[in-house]
Amino acid sequence: MFRKIILAATSAIALSGGVAMAAGEAVEIEDVTFSFEGPFGKYDQLQLQRGLQVYTEVCSACHGLKFVPIRTLADADGPGIPADQVRAYAAGLDDVELPGGESRPREWTDHFPARSGDGMGPDLSLMAKARAGFSGPYGTGINQLFRGIGGPEYIHAILTGYTGEDKEEAGSIFYENHAFPGGWISMGTPLFDDQVSFADGSPTTVDAMAMDVAAFLMWTAEPKMMARKQAGFVAVAFLVLLSSLLYLTNKKLWAGVKGKEFNA
Ligand code: HEC
Repeated sequence: MFRKIILAATSAIALSGGVAMAAGEAVEIEDVTFSFEGPFGKYDQLQLQRGLQVYTEVCSACHGLKFVPIRTLADADGPGIPADQVRAYAAGLDDVELPGGESRPREWTDHFPARSGDGMGPDLSLMAKARAGFSGPYGTGINQLFRGIGGPEYIHAILTGYTGEDKEEAGSIFYENHAFPGGWISMGTPLFDDQVSFADGSPTTVDAMAMDVAAFLMWTAEPKMMARKQAGFVAVAFLVLLSSLLYLTNKKLWAGVKGKEFNA
């Protein structure tokens, strides 16, 4: 019985290691620090707003966010943008295509536009949870328990991982990128220093913009992170309280049998 369990466990670990290796596991993703990490971490509202700006001005040319409802930009634990500004933002996005070739202006109750076609990248709505930056040691994923899955770190690493080299293969151009599994990506360097200008005067280096847009994409992938952490905290506090009450009740119930005085 035990042998079977151990065998199953080791082969599962070996298998997942194999898969990670096949996907180019040698990639080392830098563990940058985000405000939303840890049990009490929170999204930084201004950072989410800056990330939205980078997405809108740069990434949205090639990447959709089709699972993200535009109105959530007004969420207080998200970017917290005033509702009238969110409505205006929605109106400025691509029209919604209707069946029959018609279209209508995008409303804030719609989702962000999708992108498809030649040269377009994958949808980014869930990218921060679809990719793992950390996997080791040996692809076992054990250090993910401590550092998290590393999705936003992966996005940051991709955006800052270009070496400047490119090559043409089978009619497509590939750009060398240290963070991308395999080392060559078909997305050209999207970010350059000072490409956007932030109203809050934040730095606009490639690194800073990459942090901002990675944080924003973490929010699109997990908009309820704060509520989840809070619920977890309340649950743990409740369990601690309940356990101590049960402990005291137990003591009191058995005090007579054990011949001890109970005075709590
Ligand atoms: C000119 C078009 C273009 C722009 C602009 C662009 N991308 Fe991409 N992106 C692509 C393409 C194409 C791919 C697919 C690359 C591949 O699989 O080789 C891609 C892939 C990606 C990936 C996925 C890597 C993976 O693991 O599959 C991420 C993350 C990404 N882009 C983020 C961004 C962000 C963030 C921005 C804005 C700062 C951005 N991209 C701007 C075209 C673009």
